Amino acid sequence: MIKDIIKKNRSCRRFKKGVKITKKTLTELVELARLSASAANLQPLKFLLSYSSGKNNKIFPHTKWAGYLRDWDGPAKSERPSAYILILGDTEITKSFGCDHGIAAQNILLGAVEKGLAGCILGALKRKELHDSLGISSRYEILIAVALGKRAEKSVIETVRNGNIEYWRDKKDVMHIPKRPLEELILDL
Ligand SMILES: Cc1cc2nc3c(=O)[nH]c(=O)nc-3n(C[C@H](O)[C@H](O)[C@H](O)COP(=O)(O)O)c2cc1C
Repeated sequence: MIKDIIKKNRSCRRFKKGVKITKKTLTELVELARLSASAANLQPLKFLLSYSSGKNNKIFPHTKWAGYLRDWDGPAKSERPSAYILILGDTEITKSFGCDHGIAAQNILLGAVEKGLAGCILGALKRKELHDSLGISSRYEILIAVALGKRAEKSVIETVRNGNIEYWRDKKDVMHIPKRPLEELILDL
């Protein structure tokens, strides 16, 4: 059921240690992005795969994690992602990437969940530093990253209370993700 996979696909920010994700697995996930919808069917996205500790270490310092967990500095060394897919926009195709990268990122994550993996979309990137660190040509705009690994944290969905949409972590290290109720979303205009 697609709903089960979507429910399971909670953003994961702490990953099991020593898990390798292969280039083949990442390529299969990019195939899901390749098949995704694209405005005017321009398909301007490119994908940079990182699955070695060397390359991962060039990416991690330029990411930001869980802004609402103010006293948490992001995953410790032993909890960091096994891999990343950086989604780039090819400016020789278009300068405007619309929401193509969001759709691509979500399909990548759903595919990852199906494979028993977990991940997190990372939009808060130090883009200039990341460009330099990976030596990415100025032709490509860094749009978003997807961090991937084996889940090492539990997340539960709950209903937004008193308008507070901030996710939080309890004493047992379980993440609580407030979602607005359906009746609040569907407008009766
Ligand atoms: C466009 C976008 C950018 C995001 N950027 C970050 C990020 O930079 N760092 C992070 O820890 N989470 C990031 N997230 C994850 C959100 O915080 C997360 O989706 C939200 O808290 C809801 O949790 P859920 O994904 O488990 O439903 C991003 C999500 C989206 C859709």
